[in-house]
Amino acid sequence: MLTCSQLGRTLPPPEARTLLSDVNFTLERGEVLAVVGPSGAGKSTLLRLLNRLDEPTSGAVTLNGIDTRTIPPRELRRRIGMVMQRAYLFPGTVAENVAFGPKQQGKNISTDQIDALLTHVGLAGYASRDALTLSGGEAQRVAITRALANEPQVLLLDEPTSALDETARHSVEALLESLIRERHLTCVWVTHSIEQARTMAGKVLAVEAGRVSAYGIAAEVLHA
Ligand SMILES: Nc1ncnc2c1ncn2[C@@H]1O[C@H](COP(=O)(O)OP(=O)(O)OP(=O)(O)O)[C@@H](O)[C@H]1O
Ligand SMILES: [Mg+2]
Repeated sequence: MLTCSQLGRTLPPPEARTLLSDVNFTLERGEVLAVVGPSGAGKSTLLRLLNRLDEPTSGAVTLNGIDTRTIPPRELRRRIGMVMQRAYLFPGTVAENVAFGPKQQGKNISTDQIDALLTHVGLAGYASRDALTLSGGEAQRVAITRALANEPQVLLLDEPTSALDETARHSVEALLESLIRERHLTCVWVTHSIEQARTMAGKVLAVEAGRVSAYGIAAEVLHA
């Protein structure tokens, strides 16, 4: 379970601007929350507060009832994986990129495990490919695999398909949908697409100028 209560972030003085305030939601395991709203509303800021890439200045986030401030950041980011609009892959092979997270925790992920993960995301035989020469859709699948190699409980998705062409977008959407379902991932999915929010999410959080303008069951919020 992932909860957010009165979560917010205000920049320190002199700017002292409030980027986000009073965000509240509860997600059971396996639930998908779509976060929608105009550019600059604070959607990416919310994701960064959830895995503490940025530090909240108010409120709290809990993961399975535990305040995330009590979880060491590296462990938190293993448990709360993130996939961004563009895949930031490291120079090296696809396999090295996938092995990065487990290695950081001192765990060894075998070649067979990497191959199995890659096959699962539709990239069979890609292990030794140069990560920096992949297409956008392939790179995004590797970024997803890299997150999955950490066995996360929560997946934060920041417009993961918006930089892809329509064909790649549909296939990456279908991949994410099946992974979320089979691994019972709790998911916070930032999207500009109302259609994507409607098909992917059970709940929707609409953000405008740093404030929540609507929150609830997807069908209800998107009809309003
Ligand atoms: N570290 C920061 N310092 C100053 N301002 C910031 C910082 N991070 C974000 N902002 C500002 O906070 C606001 C919200 O940014 P955010 O990236 O969360 O928007 P967004 O909803 O994700 O927009 P988009 O849809 O364009 O990605 C913007 O005005 C942005 O310029
Ligand atoms: Mg953003």
